This record gives sequence, structure tokens and C-alpha cells, in this order.
Amino acid sequence: MKGLKIIGTGKYLPGKAVSNMQLSETVDTSDEWIVTRTGIKQRYFAEGESNAFIAAKAAEAAIKKAGICKEDIACCIVATFTPDQVTPSVACHVQKLCNLPENIMAYDINAACTGFLYGLKTVYGLLLQQPEKYALLIGSEIISKYLNFEDRTTCILFGDGGGAAVVKLTTEEKGFYCVTGCRGDIEIINCPGITKAHTDIPSFIAMNGKEVFRFAADAVQKCIEEILHKSHLKLEDIDYVVCHQANERIISHVYKKLDAPSEKFFMNLQHYGNTSAASIPIALDDMAKLGLLKEGVKTLCIGFGAGLTWGGVLLEW
Ligand code: COA
Repeated sequence: MKGLKIIGTGKYLPGKAVSNMQLSETVDTSDEWIVTRTGIKQRYFAEGESNAFIAAKAAEAAIKKAGICKEDIACCIVATFTPDQVTPSVACHVQKLCNLPENIMAYDINAACTGFLYGLKTVYGLLLQQPEKYALLIGSEIISKYLNFEDRTTCILFGDGGGAAVVKLTTEEKGFYCVTGCRGDIEIINCPGITKAHTDIPSFIAMNGKEVFRFAADAVQKCIEEILHKSHLKLEDIDYVVCHQANERIISHVYKKLDAPSEKFFMNLQHYGNTSAASIPIALDDMAKLGLLKEGVKTLCIGFGAGLTWGGVLLEW
């Protein structure tokens, strides 16, 4: 069985960084509360940029890094729960903005914060049909458009941004280790969004923070254990666990429970907040730029989010 390899990453952060202190000028909160409960220090909010623009910028950076010819891209998949409009998809806009070939499939997938991992499994299936080609997979969000800035329990958590990866099948039989899951639940976290924008139902993100926390801590641990079991590896064999960057306390809860060193669990949420489907590709891009993703390095990417959805993918660099 072929494996999946990321050969280039890129990211784009729109607008400018908004610190907790700046947020506390308009929201009843404080830097101390946010840092203690979440680890987040700042986030980016788009200023005039669209989700498609953010996605295209991240995509161009990943394509440049991968050094591939755009003609060799077979599909453009955007994981997002915050599209600019219902249709055309963000992916179709990216096709145009990035001048990608027309003989590709371009579409969005919505698995909220697990979107990039659902996307990896999706492009794996697509690439099996065109093994000589590349997939362009993007996680991109403009969550600020869906935030209620009068709800301090949610608006302090999220940020806008995009991360992208150029993906191909491995030439060797490496194996593809992946878990995905879903449990329909509208109570714990939901976002009615644009289709409900003109009704009396609030269109913003709403969630039960404590329930989300409980679900996430459990899902992350189970995904890690399941992938290790499938791949016959131990946690010691994994160089980095790259969790969806939602909350420092969720991540630290997991490494403490697994009795693992904190350094194994990459964290950059302090800079960006929770960027949902973009958080894992942004983390991978930061890790690449820090020189952490040398050839042979094993990363276990784990996501969880609204849906409820969860997933994990083992990647070797
Ligand atoms: N600033 C200051 N005070 C705040 C606040 C804010 N931004 N948000 C809530 N509070 C207050 C509450 O009003 C409450 O005050 P009270 O005790 O006087 O009623 C107090 O802080 C505690 O609130 P609570 O909701 O119990 O806090 P918590 O410890 O559960 O932390 C979260 C809240 C959201 C940080 C936490 O539940 C969490 O991280 N959940 C997971 C969220 C997540 O990651 N979601 C995305 C998943 S993809």
C-alpha cells in the first residue's frame, strides 16, 4: 500500500495580529484570563481579504515550496466551514486566483476543525486514481465573520488564516495510517452560518466549552492510540504529535495522560488562536520553517471539531 507525502507547505495570515490586550478594549475579558484558560496570546482577523484570497495565498506558497508545475495538479480541495458564499466553492475561486489548470476537480469539504485530516484521506483516494499527479490541499478559514463579539466565551478563541500542502503518493509501499470519525451532534458546538443569517436564529458559533473540552481530550487520546495500534508503532517512535491547535490545556491534558514529553506535542496556538481547518497545515508550515521536518521524521496529526468530527493521520517526511 502506498503512503502519502507532503512535499511543500505554505500559509497566509490575513489582516494584522490582534493581541488579547487589544481584544479586551472591546470585549469584557483580559489577557490573563485568555492565556491561563487557552494559551492564546494573539490571533489574526481578516481586513477586507476573503477566505478564497487567504486560501490562494497559502496555496501559492505551498506550490512554490514544492517546486512543482501547476499542470501536474490533479485536484484542489479546500477544507473550510467558513466559505465566502454557498457556491461557488472556495476551491473554485482558488482555481481561478492561482491560475490552476481547468482539467482538475476543485471542491470544498466541511469537517470543521478536522477538515484538513478528512482532506488528507480524501486526496489519498483521489491520487490513487492518478498516481503520477499532485493534490493541492488547503485548510482556510475566515472565522471572524461568524463570531459574536458579544460572546466572550467564544470570540476570544478563534482566528483567521490559511495553510496549504502539496501532497503526492509515495513511490515506496509505506502504508497509509489514518482514522476518521463522526458523531452527529448539534448541541455541543454549532454554527448556523450564512443560511440562517436573516432569521432570528443567531448565525454565530455557539458552544458548550466544557463539553467541547471533554470531547476533545478524549478524541485526541483515542485517535493517537488507534493510529499507533494500526501502524504497530509506539509513541516513542513518533517525533511530533501535531494536534489541532484549539487550546493549550486540551493538548497538555493529553500528553500528561499519555505520560509523554511536552516537547513532542508541537504548539503554535499562542500566535494564531484556533484557526479550525487551517490550524494543522499552518502548524506543519511553521515546523518546516523551524527545520523540524527533516527526512524520515514521523508526525502524527490529530484533529477534532464540530460535527462532531475527529481524525488522525500518520505522515513521514
Ligand atoms: N474572559 C473573562 N471571563 C470569562 C471569559 C472571558 N473571555 N469567558 C468566560 N468567562 C468567565 C465566565 O463567565 C465564568 O464566570 P463566572 O464563574 O462568574 O460565571 C468563568 O469565566 C468561568 O467560565 P467557564 O466557561 O466555566 O470557563 P472554562 O474554565 O470552562 O473555560 C473555555 C472556558 C472556553 C476556555 C474552555 O471551556 C475550553 O477551552 N473549552 C474548549 C473550547 C474549544 O477548544 N473549542 C474549539 C474546539 S474545535
